[in-house]
Amino acid sequence: MLRLLTSVIQQNLQQQPPPPARPRLFGTASTETLLMCSTWSMLNLDLLVPTNNWGNEGVGEVTEVGHQVKSLKPGDWVIPKDAGLGTWRTAAVFSEDDLISVPNDIPLLAAATLGVNPCTAYRMLADFENLQAGDTVIQNAANSGVGQAVIQIAAARGISTINVVRDRPEFTELSDRLMAIGATHVIKEETLRKPEMKELFKTCPRPKLALNGVGGKSATELLRHLQVEGTMVTYGGMAKQPVTVPVSALIFKNLKVRGFWVTQWKRTQSYDGCAFRNMLDDLCSLIKQKKLTAPVCNKVHIGEYHKALCAAVQPFTSAKNVLIM
Ligand SMILES: NC(=O)c1ccc[n+]([C@@H]2O[C@H](COP(=O)([O-])OP(=O)(O)OC[C@H]3O[C@@H](n4cnc5c(N)ncnc54)[C@H](OP(=O)(O)O)[C@@H]3O)[C@@H](O)[C@H]2O)c1
Repeated sequence: MLRLLTSVIQQNLQQQPPPPARPRLFGTASTETLLMCSTWSMLNLDLLVPTNNWGNEGVGEVTEVGHQVKSLKPGDWVIPKDAGLGTWRTAAVFSEDDLISVPNDIPLLAAATLGVNPCTAYRMLADFENLQAGDTVIQNAANSGVGQAVIQIAAARGISTINVVRDRPEFTELSDRLMAIGATHVIKEETLRKPEMKELFKTCPRPKLALNGVGGKSATELLRHLQVEGTMVTYGGMAKQPVTVPVSALIFKNLKVRGFWVTQWKRTQSYDGCAFRNMLDDLCSLIKQKKLTAPVCNKVHIGEYHKALCAAVQPFTSAKNVLIM
């Protein structure tokens, strides 16, 4: 029997069939986390009625197991192994193969938001460039959930981060908040085009790696600051604009332009759970050392999920919305 504690709303509204219910685990949801989602902003949120296959992310507590279950026991906390498990529900029966355990002594919100954004940040920092302490990473959407995880994981490894955010009236507060979790520099999008960047690169090397969650001009500007043979990884397209790569970036700098999707990474790893297990162990170790915290979250009662959905599609909020059941 599984007691679901949290769930995360993702961008993708595709209806997927519910997972096969097998009488081994059984769950009850008590909180939900909403993620900012661009797709939803095009919908009439008042017309949305949740179904039990909504929700890719969340944490649950195992309360009872069938006699064949070997890897889990009552009291364990678990998160979904794959997207589309359906975490918007108060009770469910899952196979142990659909779940992976996380320590039950880490903060609830950290566990609830662990499976997507920190994993994405972790893989992008690990899999594309051989980053060492003293190297630099540049990223846009630095205040996003992924961005905050990148800042913290990089800082824990001695890697400098140049963090680009859109301008806003509360820029200084946002900058202070990102610096407090380990950002090396926080700059506005327009600064990327200014001579100030030359001054900045007197204090740290040009980045080997750029992480692009925005697309459009923002991505092109990130590319301009990469060192020769560096890599830009695109993981999101919040501006809904294509990525334009200047020819000179390819010919004269030999830059690599890559993409990353954490869902595919997890599926590719599923034949051997070790890499996923090891990554979660590393991330949970950072959480326990207080080097990795959950993104800023607003808690909203499940009954007010429409309110939470509307809040989630507002720009410049820099916070997740968490449903409490
Ligand atoms: N590929 C993967 O495996 C993977 C994994 C996780 C997430 N993602 C994607 O990564 C992106 C960020 O996800 P998240 O959960 O970290 O998001 P989030 O915490 O909700 O933050 C959204 C971010 O996007 C920015 N943003 C929104 N609209 C924008 C626009 N028009 N132009 C520029 N920036 C804009 C926001 O900045 P403001 O504060 O300025 O509004 C904020 O930084 C999403 O596209 C998500 O689908 C991909």
